[in-house]
Amino acid sequence: MPKTVIVGVSGGIAAYKSAYLVSALTKRGYDVHVIMTQNALEFVSALTFETISGNAAITDTFMKRENHDVLHVSLAKKADMVIVAPATANVLGKVASGIADDMLTTTLLASKCPVVFAPAMNTAMYEDAVTQSNITKLNELGYHVMDTGIGMLACRDEGAGRMKEPDEIIAFADSVFESLYDMHGINVLISAGPTREAIDPVRYLSNNSSGKMGYSLAQAAVSRGANVTLVSGPVSLDAPEKAQMINVVSAQSMEQAMTHHAKNADIIISCAAVADYTPANVSDTKIKKNDDMSLRLIRTKDILKILGEAKTENQILVGFAAETNDFDKYAKAKLESKNLDIIALNDVSRPGEGFGADTNNIKLFFKDNSEADLGVDSKEILAKSIINSIFEYRLKTTR
Ligand code: PMT
Repeated sequence: MPKTVIVGVSGGIAAYKSAYLVSALTKRGYDVHVIMTQNALEFVSALTFETISGNAAITDTFMKRENHDVLHVSLAKKADMVIVAPATANVLGKVASGIADDMLTTTLLASKCPVVFAPAMNTAMYEDAVTQSNITKLNELGYHVMDTGIGMLACRDEGAGRMKEPDEIIAFADSVFESLYDMHGINVLISAGPTREAIDPVRYLSNNSSGKMGYSLAQAAVSRGANVTLVSGPVSLDAPEKAQMINVVSAQSMEQAMTHHAKNADIIISCAAVADYTPANVSDTKIKKNDDMSLRLIRTKDILKILGEAKTENQILVGFAAETNDFDKYAKAKLESKNLDIIALNDVSRPGEGFGADTNNIKLFFKDNSEADLGVDSKEILAKSIINSIFEYRLKTTR
């Protein structure tokens, strides 16, 4: 379930019910932050929400902060879900049109988490074609707009437009959350990027892995609610939001991090391009130029093989196979020899795909002998398909 919930309160008489909503969410252990529009303050005081939630109720985009965060952006990043209740015709219309002119609408525009609207307004306003078209547009854009209740309204009219009861809003939010965050509670460990094997203090052996594939996998798993630990070699990418980052440099440090975190992992994905060889001796001082030189290399440990030997029941282990020829044969051999459940074969012979590129070409082989050709696509889209395949396979095969 979500940890941080923003409750947006806009100006309608149903705002008094939002106090119960905030109270119920707080009792369930959520960190609730209330954002009120100026009109909402005409109905309920900020103090009510502050007292119930234990957090300052935010009413102004330009509220002073102790640190220098941009408040609507930092709150939007932190939120696992936003519930706007009551959502007036005005707020629905603004969000449907991309208008962001106060704290609530700027936060909504900046947030990437699921957003639930519980509309509340007069029946005629609710049934008006403009409101209905805004609701249709919001649903098409991926927002979750609830129906309204039918009954006596504050204006004494009878009909649609009553805000759903707080318990119904929570049940709706739960169902949205469960359908979107179906990997909630699953621990996913992913390795990404290259390793660097030191030759001397300024030189190293490495490869062209950019980390894009592994980071996209981490993002895809985070977006479905998984707890993601990302063990990354040196890359120049931003850490995926909400992933636990472990930065490593060499194959040896990657092996230590992976074996340590594997113990708690339900799914392990080894996407890193780990060096197979490392210099036998690392010079403490910068090596001076001579005519020719040779470097003696020794094998690194095969991290994936170690993880395969230590694999626990119900743990899903996924490897990558970067191949330039005899693709299926080599991928299947790695699936078998490393005791994997799934291997993602990528053809790295073609320029513009695989190492360093924005696209990849993936075929999955499963332990149960099934296969799935995902073809060529962006790494973001492939990552979503790979995570989905792993999740489905886990559902099918674990008890
Ligand atoms: O980072 P990008 O630029 O986005 O590129 C993505 C990628 C091409 C690097 C990625 O999709 C990929 O193929 N990663 C695996 C690269 C690789 O090392 O493949 P391999 O066939 O040599 O290794 C097989 C498997 O064993 C891999 O899962 C690898 O992580 C693992 N391995 C390899 C060597 C080693 N010492 N320890 C390992 O665990």
